[in-house]
Amino acid sequence: MSLTQSRSGGPTFAAPRVTAAALLEKKQKHQPITALTAYDYPTARLVDEAGIDVVLVGDSLGMAVLGYDSTLPVTVDEMLHHTRAVARGLQRALLIADMPYGSYHVSHEEALRNAVRFIKEGNAHAVKIEGGQSRADLVEKLTRAEIPVVGHIGLTPQSVHRMGGYRVQGKTAEAIESLLNDAAVLEAAGAIAIVLEGIPREVAAIITAKSGIPTIGIGAGPDCDGQILVFHDLAGLTFSPAAKFARRYVDGASLFRNAIEQFRADVATQNFPSDDESYHLPRATREQSAAKEAEPELCQAL
Ligand code: KIV
Repeated sequence: MSLTQSRSGGPTFAAPRVTAAALLEKKQKHQPITALTAYDYPTARLVDEAGIDVVLVGDSLGMAVLGYDSTLPVTVDEMLHHTRAVARGLQRALLIADMPYGSYHVSHEEALRNAVRFIKEGNAHAVKIEGGQSRADLVEKLTRAEIPVVGHIGLTPQSVHRMGGYRVQGKTAEAIESLLNDAAVLEAAGAIAIVLEGIPREVAAIITAKSGIPTIGIGAGPDCDGQILVFHDLAGLTFSPAAKFARRYVDGASLFRNAIEQFRADVATQNFPSDDESYHLPRATREQSAAKEAEPELCQAL
């Protein structure tokens, strides 16, 4: 641990940065890995200061923050903008940037160029790409370029049209076999971890047991090596009905709505700002003003 300045000014002991090796060690010691998404500086700080291990700037940005109705429209530039903001808020957590749809589908060269941008311009420590066997070559290529890659299999939102909706995957023997293969191939290609999304608990448990790299689940049951949630689901800041797995820890929307309504009412009734919330002239200026009360033109100049 190194002695450093805390962000509030006083000295503090900085926790070491979470690395891929630290995540693997957690898997091996059966210590659950904690992960959350974040899309901006204040959220990143809160998540980091709470001791969450992994922060993902997910392309769920599109729905959670940008108001799109899927992740598909999200661009590399939008992801980079938010990744940079999150990076500025983190001191300890491992930062993973999601590569958005289209940024790694056209060619490996373009995928590598985009992934490099997330590391150089976004200050991410790793990138995440969706898909299993079909992405093995790409995972290998990015890994050879010193870019740690997190895989993502099961319900992969960028495949929404191919899947015919957001459906739980891995329900048949054939689908389970394919998922096991996906995980094995990603590990062999050098992935540092795999997100398991929207698959039966039993299947996630088998993948986790067989996998030499950490699995991080979302809608994949409690037997994964770690768990991730979308911050806005946890905080109750979404407008559509929550998925079964998305536990809401606070009703953030009601808290904010209440505060906004109180502000509106206070302004409307002239209860905001109060005199205490106002700046005042310094005493010397007030005294000068009082002394010159008989000279109205000078008074006006003050
Ligand atoms: O984009 C995202 O937030 C994700 C998580 C659901 C893992 O990919």
